[in-house]
Amino acid sequence: MRKAGTGWRALEIRRIVALLRPYAAGEGKRLAAAIALSISIVAIHVIRPWPLKWILDFLAKPDQRGAVDAWVASAPARGLFLLSLLFVALALAAAWADFAQSLLVNGLGNRILYRFRTALFANLMRQPLVFHEARDMGELVTRVLYDTSRLRRGVNGLMIRVFQTLAIFVATLAVLFWIDPLLGAVLAVGGLLAFASMHSRGRRIAVASKKQRRKEGKLAALMADDLGSVRELQTFGGSEGATHARFQRKNEKSLKYEQRVRKLASGLVLRVELLLALTIAVALWIGATAVQSGRVTPGDLVLFISYAIALRAPFTAFAYQTGRLGRTTACAERLARIMETEPAIQDAAHAIAAPALVTGISLDRVAVRAARKNRSARKMVLDSVSCRIPAGERTAVIGGNGSGKSTLLRLIPRLLEPSEGSVLYDGEDLRRYALSSLRSRMSVVFQDSVLAGLSVRDNLALGMPEATDDAIRAVTRAVGIHGFIERLPNGYDTRVRRSGDLFSGGERQRLAIARALIRDGPIWILDEPTTGLDQDAAQEMVDILFRATEGRTTLWVTHDSEMVERMDWVIELSEGTIQYTGPAARYVRRQAVGV
Ligand SMILES: Nc1ncnc2c1ncn2[C@@H]1O[C@H](COP(=O)(O)OP(=O)(O)OP(=O)(O)O)[C@@H](O)[C@H]1O
Ligand SMILES: [Mg+2]
Repeated sequence: MRKAGTGWRALEIRRIVALLRPYAAGEGKRLAAAIALSISIVAIHVIRPWPLKWILDFLAKPDQRGAVDAWVASAPARGLFLLSLLFVALALAAAWADFAQSLLVNGLGNRILYRFRTALFANLMRQPLVFHEARDMGELVTRVLYDTSRLRRGVNGLMIRVFQTLAIFVATLAVLFWIDPLLGAVLAVGGLLAFASMHSRGRRIAVASKKQRRKEGKLAALMADDLGSVRELQTFGGSEGATHARFQRKNEKSLKYEQRVRKLASGLVLRVELLLALTIAVALWIGATAVQSGRVTPGDLVLFISYAIALRAPFTAFAYQTGRLGRTTACAERLARIMETEPAIQDAAHAIAAPALVTGISLDRVAVRAARKNRSARKMVLDSVSCRIPAGERTAVIGGNGSGKSTLLRLIPRLLEPSEGSVLYDGEDLRRYALSSLRSRMSVVFQDSVLAGLSVRDNLALGMPEATDDAIRAVTRAVGIHGFIERLPNGYDTRVRRSGDLFSGGERQRLAIARALIRDGPIWILDEPTTGLDQDAAQEMVDILFRATEGRTTLWVTHDSEMVERMDWVIELSEGTIQYTGPAARYVRRQAVGV
């Protein structure tokens, strides 16, 4: 009968176990207690109808030869009373064991799953940008929250309902075969038919569940996107008609599959109930004849019927769980795919701390392909780019929109790995160095800076957690935002929300510049750091940044030709290829004569 559970289903259970095993460390004792409880529950289940059988057998034929009958016959009043008492005691024991097991197993499953969820989040945060850019945030959020809680419920149910039901079934069958092989066979056939039904239905439920989860993920992604661009959608009139319809369409699709899953699962429970009722009917018929012919006692028949009725609850729970198992495995599979994704950018086995830069960083025939799903349509964002970024000097990175400037900058802190070629740090491949040591040397201002969901102070000290309040204030005063921060509801302790987009563009930009100044790394990466600042403020920031980058290795994206003149070196890009690279002075001369 266990065969019914093997095949693809057992494989999937094995997969769930493999996925969660690392997070069950230290739960050995509780697991052992849960197994012990399960064994007692199975035992109680098997013993429970026996007092009834003994009482009935005694009543039907008080002159039986059985040991129990003889004992009851010796003092009927006491015997019947104690058997009734045993009946109640067993019922109480069963209730208590169920309760204890439910607490224990649920606690166990919950703890394992919460640990798993934390690890899942940590793994997501370690993934490189290309991973995140290829996915929808809303979908990731549902996976981490919704799928893990589904998995948690599924695993708890699996531990209690599935394995235990199988054990109860096997134990019951063994007892029945021992009493009367024919009755045992009836239950075996009924049970196996029920399992077979669950097996075939389970697969269809799993398929529908998988589809439903996918639709739900799409819905979450759509919602996150729409909420993220609510300003534009409202302004341009897309917030009602089209957006509404789009959401409704996707929502309806998700509902359709949800209904299908429900229908399949409920249908399964119904079928199992029917099969059990049929089994009982057949057994009653066969059993009654057997009692008449004296082959079995009336007590045996009652025992059988009690077993069959007692199996109803675990069986329907089991049927329900197999429906759920399909959904659980669908969730587990999706989660496993994230969990098993090793970050494409991480420290090499023998990574060493990056030393101070002496000669410079250089790109050697670097190519970067756009991360598009359609491989043939992938365009080259950077194509065979070779250039030098001399140490201790300022390099201007220039070129039109979409020419690949930001992409080139991303290569330096290894936020992006080249598809071909290599980035060299004093002649050594960047991959030789530990990521954290490399990144900790860099002060970066992104083109579209966002702030983390921390306090303003923690945002400023992100790259230099040991910075004192005085040091932070000195910087915020210098960039002219000290007063502004002081006026926030909680000053420096105000928590930033929504990536900081509740600040004005200029305020956010100044905060980002302050953050880079506080880290004060030996390497500076500035992607149009004065975007969104008014003319005076921009001039002021440029002066501050020029002072800060004096003698530092600096990459500075700018569209301002006057700025280029003030720098030492130039990298000019056009459609992903190098247009010019060399000293700034020579570049300026060439521009002047119009070459
Ligand atoms: N994650 C990505 N997936 C696909 N294409 C990308 C990705 N990032 C950038 N691109 C494409 O690569 C090209 C270069 O982008 P990049 O951001 O480097 O340009 P840029 O020179 O910084 O432009 P701008 O002056 O507008 O900031 C663009 O055509 C852009 O559409
Ligand atoms: Mg850019």
